[in-house]
Amino acid sequence: MISKRVEQLQPSGIRQFFDLVLGMKEVISLGVGEPDFVTPWNIREAGIYALEKGYTSYTSNKGLYRLRLIISRFLKKRYGLEYNPDEEILITVGTSEGLDLIMRAILEPREKVLIPQPGYVSYAPVTILAGGKPIYLHTGPEGDFKLNPGIIENAYEQNTKAIILNYPNNPTGVSYNRKELEEIKKIVFKKNLLVISDEIYSELTYDFPHTPFATLKGAKERTIYLNGFSKAYAMTGWRIGYVCGPEKIISAMTKIHQYTIMCVSIISQVAACEALENGRIPVEEMKNEYRRRREFVVQRLNELRLNCLKPQGAFYVFPSIKATGMGSLEFANKLLNAEKVAVVPGTAFGSCGEGFIRISYAAGMENLKEAMNRIERFLKRQCNLK
Ligand SMILES: Cc1ncc(COP(=O)(O)O)c(C=O)c1O
Repeated sequence: MISKRVEQLQPSGIRQFFDLVLGMKEVISLGVGEPDFVTPWNIREAGIYALEKGYTSYTSNKGLYRLRLIISRFLKKRYGLEYNPDEEILITVGTSEGLDLIMRAILEPREKVLIPQPGYVSYAPVTILAGGKPIYLHTGPEGDFKLNPGIIENAYEQNTKAIILNYPNNPTGVSYNRKELEEIKKIVFKKNLLVISDEIYSELTYDFPHTPFATLKGAKERTIYLNGFSKAYAMTGWRIGYVCGPEKIISAMTKIHQYTIMCVSIISQVAACEALENGRIPVEEMKNEYRRRREFVVQRLNELRLNCLKPQGAFYVFPSIKATGMGSLEFANKLLNAEKVAVVPGTAFGSCGEGFIRISYAAGMENLKEAMNRIERFLKRQCNLK
């Protein structure tokens, strides 16, 4: 009854693991990729008022014009990036829908997409579901988990249409400065690739300014820029994001969106307007808190000899567990059973995540402290480390 394409799709490694966690008591979960903050009050209030004022209808398929205008002004002011709100911006059900629409809009059967690994779990499935073929770009600790032109050149095969970039990266927290992006741009141009740039963690960049790929000279015409409200504004449950790109691509995506989704919930769209217009202060406050936690977690993990780089963005660290002699899944399972701390095995993000785990520091400081103490105890008992 089920199509082969869907039957062969593996369920998300994160979900599989967290089905185990559900039903266990007193677990400290450092697993899920979502802020521990609730949406800032002014944004929630905007949602409440939207309902009070009777905003209960469909909107334009592309999304409220007001929101598209605000996004366009925001990107211009923040990055000097210009998108026309009429034709080059589409409001989507989270960045997730944007990714799916892009693949369905651009791929012919068997066309290939370059996908960085370790990387976000949905990139390969949405490619496969759209009839395309993922080609993995393996990154590792030897290159600080960064893509470089050599990795792209070596992996490139004929009939490759696009490359996905994701920075700051989930799960490694790695980001790129302008110079590094310029290097990547050269090979992207040489191979004539479209760039699908998932910059959902852009506002959570800690050590240097975030550079959208589309701001590089000549890159905008071949870049599809994705962003959303889930992470920086703590709005995961509102399900809202946006895609900006060349008119032709946005219009093709809008066609699919129009027949499958119609439009994003108007309440979420009104709240998103408030987030961009008046969300700066709460975002900065949350970011400062994430930064504080990052310092703590990185220091503790390195003390425990679970070596990790200092992430440059997002709210994840990706320490090596190789010193324990355990595999990623084994480590995560044993830690969960012995100490009730849930982390994600690195292999959930691709085979090159073996030997690593992802820890999310979108959890309160008290929980993080307790979790690190439990991990220390686990290492002492299980592996004679420390
Ligand atoms: C890199 C990345 N892209 C996209 C998403 C999806 O986010 P949204 O809630 O906007 O659909 C996530 C969520 O974890 C993510 O980590």
